[in-house]
Amino acid sequence: MVRMLRQAFFCKRLALKVLLPSACVLTLVGVAYGQNQGPARPKSTVGSQGPLPVHEAFSAAAIEAGGSLFQQHCAFCHGRDAGGGESGPDLTRSKLVFDDKNGEAIGAIIRNGRLEKGMPKFSLGDAEVMNLVAFVHSQQDKALSQSGNRKGVDTSDLQTGNVEKGREYFNGAGTCVKCHSATGDLAGVATRYEGLKLEQQMLYPRNVKAKVRVTERNGRTSAGTLAFQDEFTIALIDGNGVYRSWSKRDVTYKVDAPVKAHVELFDKYTDADIHNLMAYIQTLR
Ligand code: HEC
Ligand code: HEC
Repeated sequence: MVRMLRQAFFCKRLALKVLLPSACVLTLVGVAYGQNQGPARPKSTVGSQGPLPVHEAFSAAAIEAGGSLFQQHCAFCHGRDAGGGESGPDLTRSKLVFDDKNGEAIGAIIRNGRLEKGMPKFSLGDAEVMNLVAFVHSQQDKALSQSGNRKGVDTSDLQTGNVEKGREYFNGAGTCVKCHSATGDLAGVATRYEGLKLEQQMLYPRNVKAKVRVTERNGRTSAGTLAFQDEFTIALIDGNGVYRSWSKRDVTYKVDAPVKAHVELFDKYTDADIHNLMAYIQTLR
């Protein structure tokens, strides 16, 4: 349902000729080939505007060898490009694939299957499994990076939302203020990124640093970007650009895995939330 919404949202934009995101392309291609119709879908999917996944670098040879194996063993269900087929989900939008670093998750699925769900198990050699892993990752990377190739962006199309509602969402239901401040770290964000870049950065920030919140014994808390930590010391750069450090003995602290929060939020946004947020975020100049 969420995914449908998201696709509807992206496809609506396609109609506006604002962008041509891969989610939409995949859907259209899928429909054209009678794919993506089956009941099987990955339980959680990643959007088309994500950060590129972090995984091992695979050699071109491994990807190519994996491609042939994939056509032989997997394409029947998952589609030739891993974009989904009659009886297997779209692997380019699979969260499991996204989170996989070096075959630990994909390899386990290939070896053990999920028989009750219609994913068979394969007895393939280690090298073959790794080549398949390389191919599946390369297909996901390709699908996700297509969102970088969009053209013809008209910023005014991104300004259909309501600034006040966006501000409310930012401070309320969106929980953005848990980690951000409009006058602190996000001050001027709309001058650092424009239009779709800004939207992309808001939905799935790229090249992000971990955020940290430090609580001193007297209860005072400070939050900012993690600047340094070792066994003894933790340091951050706060919203005003000031470097501050503490002895770990004296404080408690919590480091947030940066993109995770945004990935989780992405499932909660409605189209209206995104439009309103964009309208609001664009006022942060
Ligand atoms: C007979 C059809 C079929 C074949 C052949 C097949 N799969 Fe699958 N695969 C499925 C189905 C159905 C699921 C979804 C299972 C579920 O919903 O838990 C799945 C799930 C997966 C997943 C997990 C996706 C996720 O997000 O949870 C991966 C990875 C995967 N398959 C890779 C492969 C690879 C690689 C091959 C070839 C070696 C392959 N599959 C062959 C049907 C198939
Ligand atoms: C749990 C913490 C958390 C929550 C909640 C959160 N974010 Fe973020 N957000 C981050 C982190 C961490 C980054 C990366 C910041 C960096 O590297 O400067 C980030 C980055 C961003 C950026 C890009 C900033 C830049 O300078 O590149 C925007 C815009 C943004 N978030 C907007 C939002 C909005 C809007 C919401 C609410 C809908 C939200 N965030 C909710 C943690 C969070």
